Amino acid sequence: MATTKKAVKRVGIVGFGFMGRMHYGNWKKMKGAQVVALCDKDLSQFTAPTTGGNIAGADATTDFGEARIYDDFDRMLAEADLDVISLTLPTPLHVPLTVKAIEAGVSVLCEKPMALHAADCNKMIQAARKAPRGAQLMVAHCLRFWPSYVFLKKLVDSQKYGRVLAASFRRFSAPPGWQKGTNWFADEAKSGGVALDLHIHDTDMVNFLFGMPRAVTSTAAFGKGGEMLYISTLYDVGGPAVTAEGSWAMTQTMGFEASYVVTFEKAVVLLDGKREKPLCVYPAKGEAFVPELAPGEGYEYEIQWFLDVLNGKKVPSIITPEQSRDSVKIVDAERKSAKTGKTVKIGK
Ligand SMILES: NC(=O)c1ccc[n+]([C@@H]2O[C@H](COP(=O)([O-])OP(=O)(O)OC[C@H]3O[C@@H](n4cnc5c(N)ncnc54)[C@H](O)[C@@H]3O)[C@@H](O)[C@H]2O)c1
Repeated sequence: MATTKKAVKRVGIVGFGFMGRMHYGNWKKMKGAQVVALCDKDLSQFTAPTTGGNIAGADATTDFGEARIYDDFDRMLAEADLDVISLTLPTPLHVPLTVKAIEAGVSVLCEKPMALHAADCNKMIQAARKAPRGAQLMVAHCLRFWPSYVFLKKLVDSQKYGRVLAASFRRFSAPPGWQKGTNWFADEAKSGGVALDLHIHDTDMVNFLFGMPRAVTSTAAFGKGGEMLYISTLYDVGGPAVTAEGSWAMTQTMGFEASYVVTFEKAVVLLDGKREKPLCVYPAKGEAFVPELAPGEGYEYEIQWFLDVLNGKKVPSIITPEQSRDSVKIVDAERKSAKTGKTVKIGK
């Protein structure tokens, strides 16, 4: 098996649905990396691509160049001499296949959510701590790399406009239905439902910006089968008033929406993709303005960052497996709070 010291990293992708294609398109942009293997148990994914999730941008090609196509993960792992794998599989497979790859000395960029429950994440963390050949683990919390959220993180950390007084985040979508075959997203035992699959993006952002909350108080709406369709959470971060809402109950005509409003002492910053100016700063003094952002999407930047880490470059610490586990832990508490109607404290 390969070491992590090669000039060109040999990349494999397992799970070639919506996110597999997203990772594929972005790995192809990287200098110093080559996608040499693609794996999906359903080979029709390579000839008729999944149409896509709630964000455009997944690569729709059916020409994979030199990359070898596999329908079996173990075979790909044994034969392809990989340095790194993008693991873009349904959530229940994140733990077993990540552990297998890491134990074989192959680094893993695993899609979020890390696992169905925080306790399961620890298995991945343990494997990464004893990984042979310096293999590393990253969970793809793309918002930490998304230009409009990177902008916000800088304002919070620098206190350019003073302290944060209040922050609210929102992520609304129609129920996912882009996967081929059975809709595994609709089964909460497999996807964790709206709280773990969608809303975790904002939970992780709260964790990133304000640290681990002491407690959460959530309310939710449920479908006829008891499945969670909507969640709203108040996070006790020991300072600003922080809330986030997530929904899978949007109509197709409304589509996807991700937004935030953050009130600083001396400015309000508003992101709303449905506005003419999606991101705008409204300072207490002076004119409102649209800040300049890095072009593109977080998916590309997260892969570039992980590649830099694997190449031993000095990069700022943006995400660790432990922080990714903590975001699952917060969501565990949110789901419990929504079901019991009580505030749930989050221990260390
Ligand atoms: N970061 C984001 O913005 C974002 C967006 C959507 C989904 N996701 C996450 O990405 C992951 C994948 O979601 P998706 O939308 O791509 O799902 P998907 O259903 O479109 O794709 C999953 C693919 O995995 C394949 N697969 C299943 N079992 C396999 C196995 N044992 N071996 C090989 N292939 C197998 C399926 O055939 C399918 O092609 C999920 O954890 C989801 O939560 C993240």
